[in-house]
Order: sequence, then C-alpha cells, then structure tokens
Amino acid sequence: MEPLETMVKTVAVIGAGVSGLISLKCCVDEGLEPTCFERTEDIGGLWRFKESVEDGRASIYQSVITNTSKEMSCFSDFPMPEDFPNFLHNSKLLEYFRIFAKKFDLLKYIQFQTLVISVKRRPDFSSSGQWEVVTQRDGQEHSKVFDAVMVCSGHHIIPHIPLGSFPGIERFKGQYFHSRQYKHPEGFEGKRVLVIGIGNSASDIAVELSKKANQVFISTRHGSWVMGRMSKDGYPWDMMFHTRFSSMLKNILPRTVLKWMMEQQVNRWFNHENYGLEPHNKYLMKEPILNDDLPSRLLYGVIKVKSKVKKLTETSAIFEDGTVEEPIDVIILATGYTFSFPFLEDSFVKVENNMVSLYKYMFPPQLKKSTLACIGLIQPLGSIFPTVELQARWATRVFKGLCSLPSEQTMMEDIIKRNEKRIDLFGESQSQILQTYYIDYLDELALEIGAKPDLLPLLLKDPKLAVKLYFGPCNSYQYRLEGPGQWEGARNAILTQKQRILKPLKTRTLNTASNSSASFLLKILGLLVVVVAFIFQLQWL
Ligand SMILES: Cc1cc2nc3c(=O)[nH]c(=O)nc-3n(C[C@H](O)[C@H](O)[C@H](O)COP(=O)(O)OP(=O)(O)OC[C@H]3O[C@@H](n4cnc5c(N)ncnc54)[C@H](O)[C@@H]3O)c2cc1C
Ligand SMILES: *[C@@H]1O[C@H](CO)[C@@H](O)[C@H](O)[C@H]1NC(C)=O
Ligand SMILES: *[C@@H]1O[C@H](CO)[C@@H](O)[C@H](O)[C@H]1NC(C)=O
Repeated sequence: MEPLETMVKTVAVIGAGVSGLISLKCCVDEGLEPTCFERTEDIGGLWRFKESVEDGRASIYQSVITNTSKEMSCFSDFPMPEDFPNFLHNSKLLEYFRIFAKKFDLLKYIQFQTLVISVKRRPDFSSSGQWEVVTQRDGQEHSKVFDAVMVCSGHHIIPHIPLGSFPGIERFKGQYFHSRQYKHPEGFEGKRVLVIGIGNSASDIAVELSKKANQVFISTRHGSWVMGRMSKDGYPWDMMFHTRFSSMLKNILPRTVLKWMMEQQVNRWFNHENYGLEPHNKYLMKEPILNDDLPSRLLYGVIKVKSKVKKLTETSAIFEDGTVEEPIDVIILATGYTFSFPFLEDSFVKVENNMVSLYKYMFPPQLKKSTLACIGLIQPLGSIFPTVELQARWATRVFKGLCSLPSEQTMMEDIIKRNEKRIDLFGESQSQILQTYYIDYLDELALEIGAKPDLLPLLLKDPKLAVKLYFGPCNSYQYRLEGPGQWEGARNAILTQKQRILKPLKTRTLNTASNSSASFLLKILGLLVVVVAFIFQLQWL
C-alpha cells in the first residue's frame, strides 16, 4: 500500500524534559521541523535538581538516584558512557541528557523561558489538522500555527494531597508538607517524623531521615513489596526482571502461580509479613518499591511501619489499629501526584472515572486528525526513557502518515478494555492510573512502527543474538535492529552490555590467576562444605 502523504511539517513540542528531548530527536529523524517551548531556563525537567521548589515544575530531593539501571535507561542508539555507574545520581543522569542533546544538536530547537498557555484547534482543523499555540515570554504573548503538537509537560508536578483522609490535620501543631517540598535531611535532627505513603519517594525520604531524626514512622494503608536495586550476583534488578522470557511466562502462567512465584522471590530477601510490609491485596501486581536500605533500617528500629492514619491531634497521630504515636513533630505527605494540562482545550486529556482517555496512553481518540500526542503520560513497570522514545518514534510516524490509527470507535473500545485490564492487574488506587506492563507495551509500540525484533528468523540467522534477546535484558537497543530507524551499532551494544555494567565497578585491579591443581581440590572441598551446611541449616530451621 502506498504511504499516505500528509502535510505535517512543523511540530510544537511542549517541555524540554526527557520526553521533550527525545521527541525533538525523533522529529528531526523523520525530517519534521520541531520547535520546543520550555518554561524554565534549561533542559532536563524533573532531573534538574534545584534547592528551591518552583511552581509548575517537578521538584526532587537532592539524593534522588535512578531506580532503573543505566543499560535499561539509555536511549536506543546512544548507550551511556562506559564509566557511568549503574544507578545514577540525578546530576549524573542530567549529564547524560546534556551529552545526548549536544550530540544530536537539539538545543537549537528550544525556546527557553517560554510558557505555553494555550493549544487550540484551528477553525479549519478537520481539513488541515493544524493547531494554534499561544506562548508567553517576558510577559508578551505570541501565537503560532503548527501542523502537529507533542505534549511533553510531565506528570510529577501537581501534588496529590488528600487532606480529607487525615481528619484533624488542621489542628496539628507541628510542621506538615508534601514530599515535593523535601530537599535534605538537615533540620530534622532529633525530630519524630511521620511519613505517609509507601512509594519510592516515601521510602527514600524515610531512610534518609532515619539517620538524623529521633524516630521515623512510615504509615501505609496497603503495604508494598520491596526490592533492592541489586539482584542476583550483584547485577541490576531490572536486567534480571525484564526479559522476554519472563514476560512470556507472565503471559502464559495462571495469575495465582505468578503471584506465588513473585511472593517467593521478594520474600527471599526478607519476610514481608514479619516486617509489616506485606501488601494488603497481594494478588495485585502493584509496582514494588525499590529500596536497598529500608529493610535494614526497620531491623535497626529507626523506622517503624504503621497502618493507615485514622486521626491527627495537635501533637500525635492515631492509627487505624488503635495505636497512638506521640509526640509527632513533622508529617511528610508522600501521597503522590495528580496531573492536568491547563493549556489544552478541556475536552481532551483528562481523567474521568479513574481512566485517562488516550489511545495507548498517547492519542485523544475524538480528534478528526491525529496530530496531537502526549508523550510520557505513563508509568511502566520498567524504565520510562525507552518507553517515551518508542512513543515519540510512533507519534512522529503517525504525524507523517506512515502509520495510521484505527477509527474513533475502535480506539475508544481499546481504551476501555485496556483500563479494565489495568484495574484488574494493578488495582483501583489513584496512584495506579498510568500503570502499565513494560515489555508488552514496548513491543506493542514497536509493532506499530515495524521495529519489533522478529526472533524466529533471527534464531537461524544469528543464534547468539537471538538467545540474548530472548533470555537477556530487554533493553532499548533491541528496537533498533530492524525496521525504520535501524542503527548498525545495535547488535554490538547488546553483545557488549555486560562490559558497560562491570566497567564502573572495576576500580581495583585484582590478580585472578588461578592455581590449578590446588584450587581444583579446594573447590571440591568447598562444595561439600556448602552442601553439608545447607542440609544442617534446613534442619535447624
Ligand atoms: C523522584 C522521581 C524519581 C524518578 N526516577 C525514575 C527512574 O529512575 N527511572 C525512570 O524510568 N523514571 C523515573 N521517574 C519517572 C519520571 O517521570 C521520568 O524519569 C521523567 O523524568 C519524566 O520526564 P518528562 O519529560 O515526561 O517530564 P518532566 O521531567 O517533568 O519535564 C517536563 C518539562 O516540561 C516543562 N513544561 C511544563 N509545562 C509547560 C508549559 N506549559 N510550557 C512550557 N514548558 C512546560 C517543564 O518545565 C519541564 O521542563 C521518576 C520520577 C520521580 C518523581
Ligand atoms: C521509579 O521511581 C519513580 C518515582 O517514585 C516512579 O514513578 C517509577 O515508577 C519508578 N520506576 C520503577 C521501575 O519502579
Ligand atoms: C600454587 O600454590 C602453591 C601453594 O600455595 C604455591 O607454592 C605455588 O607457587 C602456586 N602456583 C602458582 C602458579 O601460582
């Protein structure tokens, strides 16, 4: 079939965070002419730490370290420098984005300190598909027409503060604030702090404060599985967790078996029931939190897990199980975020009945022309960076008419079905609205653009690579092996990833020359000892 030729040339990209940067690159790759509007003075969005909290911008604490590893988080044709650590401090990740922007010469498309205040369909939208974008800079308004729009404005900006859930908080005499306001542990010395919520931020903050404060409590309604960033043999968790093989198992095994396996796996580190963390409804696939230190801080007693808050008084917290903690000096509400797009005509992107009405989390289905896409409005169980990259690759190809979307009705049906499945898997909670599986979603997008690796033919042609693709970590390079946007370095990047994982750890030269005969005997002996010890240990338990 002949590709549809559309007239899309100019694209407005709103925001220069990760989603905006990758959108710019994909526009350029497709020969489109992007213009990016960024309200602040610099790139990086969420990952650019600042001491002060700014309205309308994501705000992180100084110690944020990525929870997805470098080999799983890089863009598909641009591996991170070999010597970068596997989990990056926010400043280091920002450095990667800066190198990336420089390498692909993206800065020239960005207009900084320019706020997008409105995005409206043109009167002739049903034929032109065009948008009028109004921006504000130095108090002056400008308006410009664009053929397409990519919304990359982020969703960790507006704090979700369900004050109604904390009766009595208005009487509380201490300090209370949303986790977005938290920057450092300084100033909390000797305090008794209550952290409400059990996401990644909540546990990070609780752990950090527990080294300074007198006592930290963490209050959770649902509980959560906890995983470490470090997995088997010290490899990053996500390289073990996100493989095509395990994704296949997940899709064919009955849910009860799967949950049981998951439970065994997470409880091997520590028993979640003993530590008061076992999820309330453990048959949901809710995202585990990633924290290497939380269990040990619980073991030291410097953090204590409490149930849901029932009531607050001037100086204390009363929990649902009837226990009281007094005094409480500080309450940190790590209750997550909500989102909105004030610049969009209100009928488009909104949350209704606990559901976001976007086709595959990207396209408003009701538009006559598919010339607007949201990038990054999603929470995959894996890294967001390869996810937004595939989103942007697909969106730009839809704009160009190289890929087409189904009818409005089909899209609506898909949205509803997908949402039912999501609730079934992850639950109804507000924080799960954007939750998706990882590899399934990546493959779905890749299939749209024709970049999903075809394993069977590959098994004959290049068995070594095929085995890596199936049993090894599903990283972004896999989506540059075939189809449009192929990168000749992709195969090599897959085969050399171990080297890049180990490189930053090899900071001490070891003399590993083995002593053949003696060491062989020693190994046999060692093995025997391990087996005997194992049997005894079993009896002892
Ligand atoms: C604490 C924390 C840690 C995280 N860690 C990880 C991790 O380790 N791995 C992972 O995969 N994901 C992680 N995430 C998920 C996170 O969402 C992504 O990492 C990513 O940064 C999102 O990027 P974004 O570009 O979509 O949004 P943002 O980074 O928020 O960027 C949005 C940009 O748009 C600009 N903007 C907004 N509105 C306008 C407007 N009207 N006009 C002009 N410009 C505008 C903003 O100034 C900003 O620069 C984390 C999230 C949080 C909160
Ligand atoms: C990493 O942490 C952020 C912030 O809490 C969260 O949104 C994201 O889902 C986490 N990623 C994974 C894979 O757990
Ligand atoms: C092997 O070990 C023995 C005993 O420790 C030592 O004397 C010998 O030099 C070693 N051989 C090599 C090749 O390192």
